Amino acid sequence: MSELVIRDLHVNIEGKEIIKGFNLTISQGEVHAIMGPNGTGKSTLAYTLMGHPAYEVTSGEVWFKGQNILELEADERSRLGLFLAFQYPVAIPGVTVANFLRTALNSRRKAVNPEDKGIPIPEFRKMLKEKMDILRMDHSFGGRYLNEGFSGGEKKRAEILQMATLRPEIAILDETDSGLDIDALRIVSEGVNALRGPELGVLLITHYQRILNYIKPDFVHVMLGGKIVESGGPDLALHLEEHGYEWVREKYENGMTVA
Ligand SMILES: Nc1ncnc2c1ncn2[C@@H]1O[C@H](COP(=O)(O)OP(=O)(O)OP(=O)(O)O)[C@@H](O)[C@H]1O
Ligand SMILES: [Mg+2]
Repeated sequence: MSELVIRDLHVNIEGKEIIKGFNLTISQGEVHAIMGPNGTGKSTLAYTLMGHPAYEVTSGEVWFKGQNILELEADERSRLGLFLAFQYPVAIPGVTVANFLRTALNSRRKAVNPEDKGIPIPEFRKMLKEKMDILRMDHSFGGRYLNEGFSGGEKKRAEILQMATLRPEIAILDETDSGLDIDALRIVSEGVNALRGPELGVLLITHYQRILNYIKPDFVHVMLGGKIVESGGPDLALHLEEHGYEWVREKYENGMTVA
């Protein structure tokens, strides 16, 4: 079993420390939800784990499959089996969804098996259609430029389509639920659940308990001021929904300056 092990991570952006001693281990098969107020560093954590070059790791380690992945580029991390569904997916004009996914998939297959010749196109087309059907996406999306002109909810579905195609071992979902209508939330959650199993570990960043009704977490963590301050089970999310973050702030801020 592969684990993603994050140890005492500290991250600066533009000289300001945002992640301040973050610790977490995510094993394949587990779903960890992270909740926390705006600006507390959740997306910063996600970008840092994936290897965004603007995020400066000042100390700490992140281990995955026997490697300190902080030494790897984002594409190497992806081929190793890490995946990030963006909070704000960007458009890539000129690159169709189908071409993007096929290129990314072939690259990942080749990392697993250097002899791999790439997925045959008919097989790829069939797979893509099946996955689009699960996510109730119109097949015409395959021929559209990635995220260009997609609605907020369509972008979120496209992120999960990528996840379904690449089959990562650890997936970070940054507010995949935001911008989805009620039906889409259920459909996208079902898409994630279809991928759930002993092979997949998930770090699910969210503001709302609602998605956790569909994607049942094994652990719920509260992030405040750049680190985890509380951990529990699904009940913790229900408690937060009812009581907000005030009690967490009172317990941990104590006059200290935390985001
Ligand atoms: N490129 C940047 N330059 C300057 N500050 C940044 C940059 N990126 C992030 N920050 C700051 O880092 C802090 C953490 O931001 P981050 O996006 O990680 O928060 P978050 O917990 O994901 O919030 P939200 O719930 O609103 O998505 C914020 O104060 C943000 O303004
Ligand atoms: Mg965020």
